[in-house]
Amino acid sequence: MAQHEHSGVRRVAAQTGIFRRKPVQAEHGDSELERSIGLWQLTAIGLGAIIGAGIFALAGPVAKEDAGPAVTVSFLIAGVASACAALSYAEFGGMIPEAGSAYTYGYAVLGESVGWFIGWDLLLEYTAIVAVVAIGVSQYINFLADAIGLDLPTWMLGAPGTGAGHRIDLFAVLLCLGVAWLLNRGIKTSARVETWLVGVKILIVLAVIVVGVFYIDTDNLTPYFPHGLSGAATGAATVFFAVFGYDAMSTAAEESKEAERNLPKAIILSLAIAMVLYLLAATVLTGMVDYTDLADTAAFSAAFESVGLAGFSKVVAVGAIVGIITVLFSFTLGASRVWYAISRDGLLPAWFAKTNRNRSPSRPVWIVGIVSAGIAGFVSIGEAAELTNIGILLAFVVVSTAVIVLRYRSPDIVRTFRTPAMPFTPLLGIAFSLWLITKLQPATWVRFAVWFLIGVVIYAAYGYRHSKLGRGEVAETKDA
Ligand code: ALA
Repeated sequence: MAQHEHSGVRRVAAQTGIFRRKPVQAEHGDSELERSIGLWQLTAIGLGAIIGAGIFALAGPVAKEDAGPAVTVSFLIAGVASACAALSYAEFGGMIPEAGSAYTYGYAVLGESVGWFIGWDLLLEYTAIVAVVAIGVSQYINFLADAIGLDLPTWMLGAPGTGAGHRIDLFAVLLCLGVAWLLNRGIKTSARVETWLVGVKILIVLAVIVVGVFYIDTDNLTPYFPHGLSGAATGAATVFFAVFGYDAMSTAAEESKEAERNLPKAIILSLAIAMVLYLLAATVLTGMVDYTDLADTAAFSAAFESVGLAGFSKVVAVGAIVGIITVLFSFTLGASRVWYAISRDGLLPAWFAKTNRNRSPSRPVWIVGIVSAGIAGFVSIGEAAELTNIGILLAFVVVSTAVIVLRYRSPDIVRTFRTPAMPFTPLLGIAFSLWLITKLQPATWVRFAVWFLIGVVIYAAYGYRHSKLGRGEVAETKDA
């Protein structure tokens, strides 16, 4: 018997068809995972995943290239779009506090093949995000090493092809593996470390705002829309990277105390806090430096350097490194929990769902760590980044669709949180996500199509036949 099976599972008639559905509210009291995270730690995991490369690395280039000072409006547009999806995630988080996030919601409402498809998609996406972010952090570390006069060997400074003599991005590899190691120490230890790191990150962003506000020159903020509203809209597509992450946090639902109440709150709180910080930080950045003079990398540090605060600019760089590391933690956690949930349902071998003595699903954690390390060590940041965004956007479409479907199909099911202004809020989330998908590179589509086809083959050859639901090993959907 697979180690992860719940004692509450009951045998029912096997369900057939690729649209068979899991119970919306399943037995999960005896999960192998440990329920130890409270509201603030959950919010910290959310903030850990949301605030990262998007603000520290993208705000500057987007202001410079697309939006000008209106990069703040870009953050606002992306934030409103993300908030529409977040409200749907919050409704599901309160209703289905199980590991797996969009995979689990899609499976329970739209059927097994949709759930599988979105789960499979998130495995690649989250792993690629870990790699992208690790390369980003590594660049800051190399930059700081250089600033303090450390002469690192060239071979370890980047992936082959990213610079003369580069063989591997060693710091990026070590970061991916280090985060996997930490996660396997158990969720309690990891969440504690994460909460501290997120605290440091928030303090640094607050310091940037409080110190920077004294250096704002209002001349820099005019013209506010140098490329019109369309420049701000184009910028929104890029800074969208900054406004997701609560979805990765919701994959940890099964490790949360009182998840039905805490998960919706943590989703909304983490996005709201991040948005306030983004709007203020983006205003400070573009107020301190004329947008045409913003640095291409480490824009916040460079801005403080340009106003004569060289020491503080290094503090900001260290804060950015710490801050972005928490994104690695949250997305490694997210990928491994989606993998755990898929395997527990039988769509991938149960071998993956076995937990270690720290009650961490160590096999998916190590696989995500090793694969992301492989990408981060040997692929350029641009290529790795091409694998991201599409999966999150599709997950947003699936979750927003599912929330509408379930409201009409099962209006009486207990919901600790209800998405307001139904069905307009999720419809807006769907429309915005589809619009952003149209902005993605063709290469993203090709890679995505290849991954999708591999997923179809695995589902046809393994998942469909080994599905627990297909074998009648879980309760029937209550809302059918
Ligand atoms: N939202 C995360 C970031 O900005 C992915 O790094």
